[in-house]
Amino acid sequence: MSSAALKRAVPAEKQAPSFLPYGRQVIEDDDIAAVTEVLRGDYLTTGPAVAHFQKALATSVGAKHAVVCANGTAALHMAARALDLGHGTKIVVPAITFLATASAPHMNGAEIVFADVDPATGLMTPETFHQALARAGKADAVFNVHLNGQCGALEEIAAIARANGMKIVDDACHTLGAAYVGNNSGVSHIGANAHCDLSVFSFHPVKAIAMGEGGAVTTNDAAMAKRLVLARNHGMTRDADDFANCDAAFDEDGSANPWYYELVEPEFNWRANDIQCALGLSQLRKLDRFLARRRSIVAAYDALLAPYAPVLRPLARTRTCLPAWHLYVARIDFEAIGITRASLMRALASDGIGTQVHYFPVHRQPYYAKRFGAELPGADQYYAQALSLPLSAAMDDDDVERVVAALIHHLNL
Ligand SMILES: Cc1ncc(COP(=O)(O)O)c(C=O)c1O
Repeated sequence: MSSAALKRAVPAEKQAPSFLPYGRQVIEDDDIAAVTEVLRGDYLTTGPAVAHFQKALATSVGAKHAVVCANGTAALHMAARALDLGHGTKIVVPAITFLATASAPHMNGAEIVFADVDPATGLMTPETFHQALARAGKADAVFNVHLNGQCGALEEIAAIARANGMKIVDDACHTLGAAYVGNNSGVSHIGANAHCDLSVFSFHPVKAIAMGEGGAVTTNDAAMAKRLVLARNHGMTRDADDFANCDAAFDEDGSANPWYYELVEPEFNWRANDIQCALGLSQLRKLDRFLARRRSIVAAYDALLAPYAPVLRPLARTRTCLPAWHLYVARIDFEAIGITRASLMRALASDGIGTQVHYFPVHRQPYYAKRFGAELPGADQYYAQALSLPLSAAMDDDDVERVVAALIHHLNL
């Protein structure tokens, strides 16, 4: 549809369409059948579906190991535990992300150093990473975020981190199915850990695949995978090779006592169950189809928004990514247009269109501002203009036209 035709389009509220959320899952009959099969079976907690999903996920992202868990927040916490990022350590986190990227390692005792972002993409850059390090003096790790479905300059960021002796965790909660396009290193799947130590995923329903709640950490290191499994399950081992209390662990004939398990280090219960993993496995089979649909919706939005730049623009794209779009973020110059974001969101909601803001900068949260405050103008600028429009594999092109028609109507463009 041309921009002129969009202007003439009937305002969305007159068409009484169903509510279009900013993101949602696609659940089909085979997903329901997969979950039902588990419910009729023997295992509701950890059973065969956990191992099947882990194997399929590791294969899908090109990692040697995937450790599935309760959600993405748990995955971030497990990563912090496994890398010993506790009290006395400092972690660099970009300011534009969900709370959990900072809070999960902080709950393990780490201090957070917030990094600024590129206002056009919301991503931490090598420059803003350098600036954060200069403020920190020294840091032990970086939890880098691939925002909205695209990643930034991963090789450069890794080079800076390695030169400073830092661990690298990629928060890939938004980028299942994306790939990094390297300067010299070719294309690597996000999650394959070509330029980081660990990658973290979330399978919350608005993400590319849904598990209800679900998350995972991927690694190429068998010892690290074992450590992550401990972090997932109370820090307890049933591996006889690890037992320290031999009197309690072994029978007179030297075999391990069948009831015995041993605490290596106290941890939480961050397990995912078979119900979640059966759904995850079924959804993972459709990832390519879901991502293709999301790509085509993003292309439709881009084309329809093109005439309205610079006051209404798509998110800027990086050269370094084959994205897997999780959110469709429009950048809107509310100041120039003379309308508030809240009033636009309310008007769109009354037309049955859900929108959201990803994210209020985490360094501006009162808790973090008090402890780890910083002036980060790129993050403020990104936040001031960002509005997530509906994006899911459940949408069709008519939905996109409806959203853009309503948007330009309410923005008086
Ligand atoms: C960037 C990012 N990191 C971490 C998380 C936490 O994932 P979960 O909601 O599965 O705990 C999210 C979830 O929205 C996220 O968007």
